[in-house]
Amino acid sequence: MRDHIDMPQGSADWSATRDRVETYFDRTATRVWAALTSDAPVSRIRATVRAGRDQMRALMLSRLPADLTGARVLDAGCGTGAMSVELAARGAEVVGVDIAPNLVDIAQRRLPVHLAGRVHFVAGDMLSSSFGRFDAVVAMDSLIYYSQTDLLNALTTLAERSPQTVFTVAPRTPVLMAMWHTGRLFPRADRSPTMVPQSAARLARALPGLRAVQRVTSGFYISQCMEHLS
Ligand SMILES: C[S@@+](CC[C@H](N)C(=O)[O-])C[C@H]1O[C@@H](n2cnc3c(N)ncnc32)[C@H](O)[C@@H]1O
Repeated sequence: MRDHIDMPQGSADWSATRDRVETYFDRTATRVWAALTSDAPVSRIRATVRAGRDQMRALMLSRLPADLTGARVLDAGCGTGAMSVELAARGAEVVGVDIAPNLVDIAQRRLPVHLAGRVHFVAGDMLSSSFGRFDAVVAMDSLIYYSQTDLLNALTTLAERSPQTVFTVAPRTPVLMAMWHTGRLFPRADRSPTMVPQSAARLARALPGLRAVQRVTSGFYISQCMEHLS
């Protein structure tokens, strides 16, 4: 059974974005997201997204030691738990937290029995101070909805708890920016939270220890891996 934790006192903007994200992933898109993150057949377009996400997960994992035995790792915005499984398979003790309880339930159900003792799934906010300290934090595509200010504040908060945060942003490519300006990044009707494209260079200037790692582009999936060392 998953836990549910109290919400931290983030900024009003952070809470408003987080609430929209929760509504989307916990209600509107739960089934679509469950399918995308499984090996169920999907459309050709979604298959490119799935392939890109697999590539990104591998890239992010490559920033951590291959053997994570004894390391404590936070999977921040764990969704249906694929990253948590990979981390635990490398020996880590994992806290997988997500704001969408329905996704956390799916993650719990998908967790292989032999890894059950190493992963603790929790429904709540990734910035909750109740989780303690970590050797690393990974946040795959879970910070992409937050403003630059909220993102930098989140990274600063996570850095107080862990020396390394590996995360992704939506890059400011001409295509993503044009879609963002015209409100076409997502159709309005599906009420999905809007991604906020970020400039990797601007972020790196704003926070010492922050740097761009690599971009992954696969069909409709475009995501920039970044790392913050403190
Ligand atoms: C695009 S999904 C990615 C999920 C997972 N990391 C993966 O790559 O499969 C973004 C996830 O971040 C979660 N999320 C966003 N903001 C969060 C927050 N403040 N605390 C916890 N989870 C959050 C969402 O609920 C959603 O499951």
